[in-house]
Amino acid sequence: MANQNSSEITIKRENKSSINAMSREITKEELAQHNKQTDAWMAIRGKVYDVTDFLRKHPGGKSSIMQGIGKDATGMFNQAHNYVDPDRAIPGKQVGVLKR
Ligand code: HEM
Repeated sequence: MANQNSSEITIKRENKSSINAMSREITKEELAQHNKQTDAWMAIRGKVYDVTDFLRKHPGGKSSIMQGIGKDATGMFNQAHNYVDPDRAIPGKQVGVLKR
């Protein structure tokens, strides 16, 4: 019983800290620094994602998604696939929100 309770608390704490991290405001300048194949961030619809691992898995190929790294790629993203939900396609990869 005691073990069950403490593991519940741990799970709650982890969720809370990852939610805090997801709401961190990221400037365009900071976003622009993550523009490399080995360190690639992308803003889509106000949220910033780390797409480094996804680059080689992107169904539309690496060269297309590479055009959007280090920037707000909402326009390109919507044009290619308005129906794709990044939160579902790359769960757990949000690193913050784009400061506006
Ligand atoms: C977080 C970033 C992105 C995610 C999660 C993502 C996800 C996906 C997914 C799930 C597909 C398959 C769609 C399907 O089967 O119908 C796809 C295809 C594609 N994506 Fe992306 N994408 C991202 C960024 C981009 C960007 C920035 C571009 C363009 C600059 C792009 C261009 C394309 C293209 C051209 C295809 C192929 C569409 C086709 O087969 O007709 N994607 N992407």
